[in-house]
Amino acid sequence: MAAAAPKTWTVLDLLRWTTQHFAERGIDTPRLDAECLLAFALGCDRLRLYVDYDKPVDEAERARFRALVRERAQARVPVALLVGTREFWSLSLRVTGDVLVPRPDTETLVAAALDAFPEREAECTVLDVGTGSGAIALALAHERTKARVTATDTSLAALAVAADNAERLGLADRVRFLEGSLFEPVAGERFDLVVSNPPYVAKRDAASLPPELRHEPASALFAGPDGTDVLRAFAAQVFEVVAPGGAVFVELDPAQAPAMSQWFADAGLERVTIHRDAAGRARVVAARRGA
Ligand SMILES: C[S@@+](CC[C@H](N)C(=O)[O-])C[C@H]1O[C@@H](n2cnc3c(N)ncnc32)[C@H](O)[C@@H]1O
Repeated sequence: MAAAAPKTWTVLDLLRWTTQHFAERGIDTPRLDAECLLAFALGCDRLRLYVDYDKPVDEAERARFRALVRERAQARVPVALLVGTREFWSLSLRVTGDVLVPRPDTETLVAAALDAFPEREAECTVLDVGTGSGAIALALAHERTKARVTATDTSLAALAVAADNAERLGLADRVRFLEGSLFEPVAGERFDLVVSNPPYVAKRDAASLPPELRHEPASALFAGPDGTDVLRAFAAQVFEVVAPGGAVFVELDPAQAPAMSQWFADAGLERVTIHRDAAGRARVVAARRGA
């Protein structure tokens, strides 16, 4: 009897099998993750997969893909860390285990901050506290072509990733990177726009968080037992750093929005407003310093 021919795996076979495997493992976006990883393993973009549904995938490509699928399903490594990049505000950012993977929610902050400075060529100064991959700082520098942006972080490793992203996006000449906590690295300076997506997750919730978060730096996520340590310090110190007439925008957990609004008002800031994310949750608190 002739030996059975080895099975030929097509792009579509692999997508179907992996989508089901990811779904059984409790991964939220199984089909999307399967597509991103297969496209990465094959060195093409996701749309190409649809054109190539019936194309056989050779053993070397499958081996590359299998390794990625294992990391995603078993170790629960986020897709962005497996492929090394993440799209944010239509910019492709390099990401590593030293930075928070930029989230779509953070685009709410970028949109709100841009609304406050609607002129594309406005000459403004911007401070991004806790820049991580540089997501917010670079999106703002990209959109406001004359803005001079300062981005700070307590993590030197994160700053190296952010500086590399600035270089790749051709924005390095207008963005400077400084190490230090909160406003320490910019003592004595004032900015028209101060933005931050600081760590705001409650340490007491750590055990119940999705396993993917274990692959991101704890210092980017947690801020004390109830998550407000950095927000509180930020609100208490930010007034002096905002130029008269300037604005401040902070991302947070929706449950923290009322307290943050109060802390901003207590600090002497005015016109405190709340901006909602795509799901309608209070995601950003903003305020102005009187002129
Ligand atoms: C939630 S991540 C945000 C990263 C990035 N801005 C984004 O939106 O994707 C918070 C960042 O703040 C930094 N960080 C934590 N505590 C800080 C502090 N006291 N001062 C400045 N940066 C801090 C962390 O290292 C991390 O990179």
